[in-house]
Amino acid sequence: MGVFASTDQQVSAGHEQVVFCQDKPTGLKAIIGIYSTALGPALGGTRFYPYASEADALHDVLDLSRGMAYKNALAGLDLGGGKAVIWGDPEQLKTEPLLRAYGRFVQSLGGRYYTACDVGTYVQDMDVVARETRFVTGRSVEHGGAGDSSVLTAWGVFQGMRAAAEHQWGSATLTGRRVGVSGLGKVGKHLVGHLIEDGASVVATDVNEKALDWARHTYPEVDLVADATALITSDIDVYAPCALGGALDDETVPALRAKIVAGAANNQLAHPGIEKQLADRGVLYAPDYVVNAGGVIQVADEIEGFNFERAKLRATRIYDTTREILRLADAEGVPPAVAADRLAERRMAEVGRLRSIHLT
Ligand SMILES: NC(=O)c1ccc[n+]([C@@H]2O[C@H](COP(=O)([O-])OP(=O)(O)OC[C@H]3O[C@@H](n4cnc5c(N)ncnc54)[C@H](O)[C@@H]3O)[C@@H](O)[C@H]2O)c1
Repeated sequence: MGVFASTDQQVSAGHEQVVFCQDKPTGLKAIIGIYSTALGPALGGTRFYPYASEADALHDVLDLSRGMAYKNALAGLDLGGGKAVIWGDPEQLKTEPLLRAYGRFVQSLGGRYYTACDVGTYVQDMDVVARETRFVTGRSVEHGGAGDSSVLTAWGVFQGMRAAAEHQWGSATLTGRRVGVSGLGKVGKHLVGHLIEDGASVVATDVNEKALDWARHTYPEVDLVADATALITSDIDVYAPCALGGALDDETVPALRAKIVAGAANNQLAHPGIEKQLADRGVLYAPDYVVNAGGVIQVADEIEGFNFERAKLRATRIYDTTREILRLADAEGVPPAVAADRLAERRMAEVGRLRSIHLT
C-alpha cells in the first residue's frame, strides 16, 4: 500500500476520514475523502483525472468532499458529504480490473461512503464498480440505476432560477426575460427546453460545433453568439453558466449585464470575494451548489430504488430552498452564497445532533 504525501494544513481541513487506496497491478491510486457523516453516509462522485501531482489530487478531493456535504445538506438529503478521486488518465488507465479494485476499496468502508459518477467516470463505469460494492449509485437504467442525472439537474436549475426571478422581479417566471446559457451540454440542452417552454428568449454559446448544430435544429429561435464574453455583454436578464467552473471572475463580473446568475456549473465563483462583488453590483447570485443539486437528488433516490416522479418532486423543492436562502441573505445582510453555507451548517448541526438521543 503506497502512502501519498500530504501536508498537515490540508488534512486538518475538518474532514472525518481520508483514505488512500492503491492497487499496483492495475495502477489504481485513489483517495476517498469523507467530510461529514452527520446527516448519513457520505455521497459524492468519483473524479478520474490526470492530476499534475498527488498534492493536487488530495487538494481536489478535500475541496470536493466538503462541497458535497453542503450540497447534500441543502438538498434535504439524509446523506453526508464525500468524494473520491482516481489519480491518472482515464483514457490510458481505465480498465475493468482497476474499476473493480476501486469498488473493493469503496466496499471496505462498509457504507460510510457511497460513490457515483463525476468528471471522467460514467454510468457504465458505476455498473462495473457495482460488481464489487453495493455502496454505489448513478448506475445505468438496465442495472436498476437512475441513468443520466442531467435531466433533474436542469430541472433544479430552472426551479432555482424561478425563485431568483421572483426575488428580483416579483414573479416566479422567466416569461419575457432574456436568458444567456453558456454551455449546451447535457444540462444546458435540457435547460434551454424549460426556458423556451416558460416563454423566455434564449441566447447561447458553446465551443463545440455539434452542440451549436443541435441548437440550430432543435430551437432555431435561440440566438447563438461566439463566446461567453459576447454572451455576458449582450442584453440578457439572466446568466446561466452551464459549462466549466470559474465563470464568475474579476473580469466577467464588471462586464455582466444580467441581474441574476443561476446555472449548473460547479464552482462558478473563481475566488472568495466574488460573491460580494456580485452583490455590490446588484446581481442576484443563486448559489451553484444549491441550484445544481437535482443530479445528486436523482442519484440519491436510486439508493432507495429509483422512482423518477419522487426524485423530480424533491428537485422541484430547489425552488423553495433558493427562496429561503435569498430571504435569509436579505435578513442577515450577507450575499446568498454566505446564507446558503449558514443554512447548510445549521441543518448539519441541528439534524446531526439528534443522534445524541439514545435509541435502544
Ligand atoms: N450533469 C449533471 O448532472 C451535473 C450536476 C451538477 C453539476 N453539473 C455541472 O454542470 C456543468 C455542465 O454539466 P454537463 O453534464 O452538461 O457537462 P457537458 O460536458 O455535457 O457539457 C458542457 C458543455 O460546455 C461546453 N463548453 C466547454 N467550455 C466552454 C466554453 N468555454 N464556453 C462555452 N461552452 C463551453 C462543452 O462543449 C459542452 O457542450 C458542469 O460544470 C458540471 O460539473 C452537472
